[in-house]
Amino acid sequence: MRPEELIRKKRDAGALTREEIFFLIEHYTRDAIPDYQMAAWLMAVFWRGMTPAETADLTEAMMRSGQVLDLSELPGAKVDKHSTGGVGDKTSLVIAPVVAAAGLPVPMISGRGLGHTGGTLDKLEAIPGFNVRLTLPEFRRALAEVGCALIGQTAEIAPADRKLYALRDVTATVESIPLITASILSKKLAEGIDALVLDVKVGSGAFMKDRESATRLARSLQEIGTRMGKRVVALLTNMDQVLGRAVGNALEVEEAVAVLKGEEREDLRALCRQLCAWMLVLGGAAQTLEEGGQRYDELVRSGAAAEKFRQIIARQGGDPRVVDDPRRLPQARERRDFPAPASGYLARMDAERIGRAAMVLGAGRARVEDAIDPAVGLVLHKKVGERMEQGEPLATLYFNHAERLADASARLEGAFRVEPSPPKPTPLVFETLT
Ligand code: URA
Repeated sequence: MRPEELIRKKRDAGALTREEIFFLIEHYTRDAIPDYQMAAWLMAVFWRGMTPAETADLTEAMMRSGQVLDLSELPGAKVDKHSTGGVGDKTSLVIAPVVAAAGLPVPMISGRGLGHTGGTLDKLEAIPGFNVRLTLPEFRRALAEVGCALIGQTAEIAPADRKLYALRDVTATVESIPLITASILSKKLAEGIDALVLDVKVGSGAFMKDRESATRLARSLQEIGTRMGKRVVALLTNMDQVLGRAVGNALEVEEAVAVLKGEEREDLRALCRQLCAWMLVLGGAAQTLEEGGQRYDELVRSGAAAEKFRQIIARQGGDPRVVDDPRRLPQARERRDFPAPASGYLARMDAERIGRAAMVLGAGRARVEDAIDPAVGLVLHKKVGERMEQGEPLATLYFNHAERLADASARLEGAFRVEPSPPKPTPLVFETLT
């Protein structure tokens, strides 16, 4: 087999066989195919697409390019959740302890934030001492002891994805449904899970801005995951406004803990409850979604979910006292209110602009190698549909570098639309693909 033949075959809209796909991925992972040939093949895939069978083979080849955890010695179905990324999305910090408290192991390998979207690892690292860099044997031990462990991708997990993603990033081949599907699923399925809940975000703060492309991605993820023998559900959820009210790492941990302890927090609590209910159903810990939701309520009300989060934090070297005293989280030195531009109802927010405002304060990174400041970010005082009076605080910015404030405030200027009458409510979950 020769790479140029496989590039030509895909260029001419052919479907590659399983052997051909495994050949490309295995050889590329061990540097036996150069970047220029792989880049040409990726561009051919970008234009020609892949059949579901090819996408499943690509996912499997990428997953098998590294270690695939076998967690069969742990009792219960292993379940996880993956979000395609949004602004203020701290659901993993709530969901992982709740589902682990229900007795299902949660092996969660997460990512970092980039651009306007946040990442679970950065949020966890805002907890003093929390170590996300466990080796796979340590990950497995932590999982066996407390029922949940949260770490970053290691060199052993799907190395093909690491190489391919870097190449896609510089060859304009990221936005391809089969390539995104294989990238996400190869990493998640290497965790040794039995079931996966996918939260595919759509809207101003999401990677997919329109409903049609988000639906295509959700369908592809659900179909390929199922083909690979896993129980998979994909929810298409609203990312037209910040999820919850906090954006920024320590601020988001504080908000996640509040939800874990039963505070309302609107859409954030509702989405956590629904995602958990699905995880419990797929993992066999609840018969119906309704029962899953009730289980969530009980675990939160009894304090079992918060206690599980303390255990997870302590097991990974962090300070569990943050669960009871958020002042132990990093605190910004200064804060400044951002006033409402007019009186009326908040009709729309541009979640991406808000995410970028938090990023310029230091909460996120523009490039992978940038450092972040865990203490900074912003908290919104209004959600879409709420009334406000001109000049009252619409948000509070938390910062350590005053020279960044003007840029952050300028980004917020155009991020809110105020109208005289309340907007039509939009659903939190648009569609659920089972
Ligand atoms: N997230 C991933 O992990 N991979 C992609 O290709 C896109 C988003």
